[in-house]
Order: sequence, then structure tokens, then C-alpha cells
Amino acid sequence: MNIAILTSGGDAPGMNPLIRAVVRSGIYYGHKVYGIESGYQGLIEGKVIELNESSVGDVIQKGGTFLGTSRSPSFQEQDGFNKAINVLDIFNIDVLIVCGGDGSLKGALKLKNAGIKVMGIPASIDNDLAYTDYTIGFMTCLETLCGLISKIRDTTESHGRANVVEVMGRNCGDIALYAGLAGGAENILVPECPTDIDEIAKKAILGKNRGKRHHIILISEAMGSPYEFADKFQSLTGIDTKVTIPGYIQRGGSPCVFDRILASQMGFRAIEEINKNNFNLAIGTRKESIITRNLEEIFSEESKFSYNLLNILKIISI
Ligand code: ADP
Ligand code: F6P
Repeated sequence: MNIAILTSGGDAPGMNPLIRAVVRSGIYYGHKVYGIESGYQGLIEGKVIELNESSVGDVIQKGGTFLGTSRSPSFQEQDGFNKAINVLDIFNIDVLIVCGGDGSLKGALKLKNAGIKVMGIPASIDNDLAYTDYTIGFMTCLETLCGLISKIRDTTESHGRANVVEVMGRNCGDIALYAGLAGGAENILVPECPTDIDEIAKKAILGKNRGKRHHIILISEAMGSPYEFADKFQSLTGIDTKVTIPGYIQRGGSPCVFDRILASQMGFRAIEEINKNNFNLAIGTRKESIITRNLEEIFSEESKFSYNLLNILKIISI
């Protein structure tokens, strides 16, 4: 079969090991594998290249995606979408593997509904797809943030301050939740849970009265300005409060072991399903197993935000 792969939306550490797994297992099982550069935009523009075993040499440790990625508004317009389908036809692509987040997989579903055979693989730092426990890239992002929080903690503690750290994640609070728990943040502000600033201020004052010299709050980017929050927090507590925005640092870096293994397993599974003529699936992971779901079903699953973890954080990060 002629299999094409593209990476789309926000890049995520682990996309390179994922492409590597698809290319090498695809060729091993006798398929031809093509890479499409720059996501859906590259597909519209016909940026299709044949990949071989060596094309994916020395990429396993690299962050980002060597195929490139894009946000493509044109793909969401009829004209661009038709061009994308034409390119798949011209290059005789039998199945397209889409690696990306929520938006990219919605794009894959649209292609499926137009009669294209697709497979979806979740790759995004946001972990915002409910059908899978983890998206590729999430753990590396957490490792990066955890390191940053430790550094922020050093200086915050030395000065007896508070620090409000804005984290990515779009409308999903998982990055704040997991990085907050791992980094020992005193509070997280996430879209999944209402925030009572008086409660947060009270916790900080009680901590200060016990002799505590730092208070770290992770705020999801969906929760509004970290500066406004920091101002309010400072005026309620009297604690000197700074703001840190790690920004795109969260998306870069060498993929961690977890992401490399997850990417290798998911890429391999996609090829195994194609070998069995199973298409239009989303690959995922549940309870440490690799799973598949019908692509059209994944967007109706309920949020998997872990109120359990939030509860643990509230009790032990005081
Ligand atoms: P991510 O995949 O990381 O969530 P985006 O939401 O930006 O990133 O989606 C990546 C691309 O997928 C978009 O630029 C667009 O081309 C395509 N896309 C997003 N949402 C849809 C949709 N609802 N229908 C069709 N294509 C979509
Ligand atoms: O989807 C990944 C992500 O990093 C989000 O967390 C963030 O909101 C967005 O991408 C930023 O996108 P861009 O690179 O287009 O600014």
C-alpha cells in the first residue's frame, strides 16, 4: 500500500520517533511510505516526499517534527480541502496517517467522511483528547515544566515571594494539573474547576504564617491574564508576587523516554491495523495498553480530567 504521514497543529516532542516508527514498520511490512511536509497546508500544496529507512535515521532524539507542521485555515475551506484530496489522488495514496491534536484529528475525520482512508495518532503537548490517557508530547512537556518550576522555586523561596506561572494546554487543564502535582505547586487554576481566589489567598497567608517562603500557582492559559491574577493575589495577601510565562519552551526539547516508547508503539500499531485493512481508527493508550477507537467516536468522549489528582494536590501541596 502507499501510506502517507503528516504532522499537524502544534508540534510535540515525540513526533519524530513516531514518524520513524511508521516509516520503518511500514517498509518492513512491504508498504511504500511518503511524508507530507508542513501538515495539511503542505498536503494542499503537494509537498509529498518518499521516505526510506535512512530518512528517519538520527531523529529519535530530536524535538519538533522534521516533516514540519502548520496551522492551515485553507484546509478548512472547501477549495483547500478539495485540493488536499486531489493531491492524495494524484500521488495514489491509499491511506493517510495524521499525527496531531484535537484539531488535526477533526481534520482527519473530515477526510474520512469524504471517502479517504485515514488513521489518527494523538500528538500534542495538551493531552486534550479524552479517548486516550496520554497524547505523545505531554510527558516531555511535563518534564520540562517540572524542571522550570524547581528553578522558579529556588528564587521564589530565597525572596519569600509568590510566583504565578502560566502554562499552555488550550482549554485543557492537564498540563497545569500534572506539572502542578509533580512540581509541588500550591495551587492550580484550570478550566475544569472553579477558582476561589479568597481560598487561594487564605492558603498562602496560612503558609506564610507557618514560615513558608514560597507560593507557586500554575495558571492554565485559558484562565485569563496571569498578571491580573498576580495583582489580585498580591493585594489580598501582601506577598510580593511575580509572573513567569515559559511559553514555547514547553513545546520544545528532546522527547522523554515515555514519549519515545509511546510514539514507537502507536506508530507500529497504526501499521499493524493497516496490514489488517482496518482504517479510520484513532490510536490511543488506556491503562498502559495501546488501543484503537473509531475516529468518529473520539470527539464525543467525556473529559478525563482527574479530580482525584486534583484532590491529592489540594491535600499535600499546602
Ligand atoms: P491541533 O491539532 O494541535 O489541535 P489545530 O487545532 O490548529 O491543532 O488543528 C490543526 C489543523 O487541523 C488546523 O490548522 C486545520 O487545518 C485542521 N483542523 C482543525 N480543526 C478542524 C476541523 N474542525 N475540521 C477540519 N479541519 C480542522
Ligand atoms: O496545541 C499546542 C499549543 O501549544 C497550545 O497549548 C497553545 O495554545 C497553542 O498550541 C499555541 O499555538 P501557536 O504555536 O499557534 O501559537
